[in-house]
Amino acid sequence: MSRRIRDYRLVKVWDLPVRVFHWALVVVVLVAGLTETAAPANWLGVHVVAGYTLAGLLATRLVWALLGSEFSRFDRFVLAPRAVLGHLRDLLTGRPSRHLGHNPAGSAMIVALLLVLAALVVTGLVTLGGMFKQGPLAPLLPFVVGSPARQIHNAFFYLLLILIALHLVGVALESALTRENLARAMIDGLKRDTAQQEPPARRQARPGWALAAIVLLVGGGGAGLAALAALPASGVRPVPHLPTYAEQCGACHFAFPPTLLPAAAWTSLMSHLDRHFGENASLDAASVTAIRAYLVDNAAESSDSLPAHMFRQVDPADPERITATAYWQRRHRSIPEATFRSAAIGGKAMCSACHHDAAEGAFAPQQIHIPEVKP
Ligand code: HEC
Ligand code: HEC
Repeated sequence: MSRRIRDYRLVKVWDLPVRVFHWALVVVVLVAGLTETAAPANWLGVHVVAGYTLAGLLATRLVWALLGSEFSRFDRFVLAPRAVLGHLRDLLTGRPSRHLGHNPAGSAMIVALLLVLAALVVTGLVTLGGMFKQGPLAPLLPFVVGSPARQIHNAFFYLLLILIALHLVGVALESALTRENLARAMIDGLKRDTAQQEPPARRQARPGWALAAIVLLVGGGGAGLAALAALPASGVRPVPHLPTYAEQCGACHFAFPPTLLPAAAWTSLMSHLDRHFGENASLDAASVTAIRAYLVDNAAESSDSLPAHMFRQVDPADPERITATAYWQRRHRSIPEATFRSAAIGGKAMCSACHHDAAEGAFAPQQIHIPEVKP
């Protein structure tokens, strides 16, 4: 498709799927980035949906790279290091060669961006599964894998920010030097073909085949992931319910799931109930024995959940307090004391006032809702 205007032709370079992919990617990356950096923790659900959408977009782009129109195909990308360096050198001298499709530096940038985005999807899924015990990898991965994956996920995020900045600088520079607005070309798909040296015969897109491949890949992959996500998470079993515990130890505060402290802390706490944080919480000997056995059997050491791992590292000066651990302090630093003291909450020990899944010991970020506090 081309139109003749004066001495150059306007050529359709970016087909509709490529342009939709590009701008959809911009939106999804913005949503994913903002929900992790600027939104409260309970926006994790939106972040995860953005991640799945990103995975679907990348799979779609992969298919289109094989079955799309001429310039969307990956074999049109020039990646030879010599060509990329040569183009960067030309850019610095202010005389970049024009390219109808991606220029060599642009090609290298797009491939780098796509690889980093794919790495973000993978490390995100590993973090979600191993650390938060959610999603398709939860049945497969332990916490020790999920926890470092989160650091890697963050590192890839910073790398992505750097690449996006370079990409924008590159587009601005090329646009200025070649007098062709590359950002607009990604909107209307048209670029000027002054040399008219492009081969007239171009490969046509195969939208029917592409659609079938996308449905198969995204549908099949999605169904597989959903089936995995429905399996029980590894290393976390439901905490059994002990009625005496709920009754006796839930009388003054939230009945903490046993997974929130290590066995040694529970044993020590149960040995002096008459001196319990300034209260007398004494019980008959039979109840003490039953409750202690229950707490020790289901203590933090028995669970692979995030809270079990974090609260296992007790504060040596105050080893019987969950709220004294460094992790608890860090995560609740931004909440004012007055909020904890408010009638709607009733103190730091009332975990379930803000964590709607506290009874299961899960503490998923999506389940955090601080009740409205009246001044
Ligand atoms: C008579 C009321 C009372 C009863 C009964 C009671 N507690 Fe407590 N408990 C308290 C008070 C008060 C605190 C201190 C809360 C605070 O500082 O916010 C506390 C704190 C705790 C903490 C530390 C919470 C933190 O800040 O991390 C644990 C753990 C705990 N209790 C476990 C138990 C267990 C187990 C039982 C049952 C054997 C029990 N409690 C029964 C009153 C009680
Ligand atoms: C006033 C409301 C409130 C109370 C009470 C509260 N929390 Fe939280 N908690 C939060 C908020 C808000 C966050 C998220 C903070 C952030 O953005 O990092 C959080 C984060 C957490 C996390 C990390 C969740 C994750 O996966 O990222 C854990 C674990 C946790 N709290 C445990 C507890 C326990 C245990 C108690 C009770 C001893 C408790 N919290 C009491 C509000 C509360």
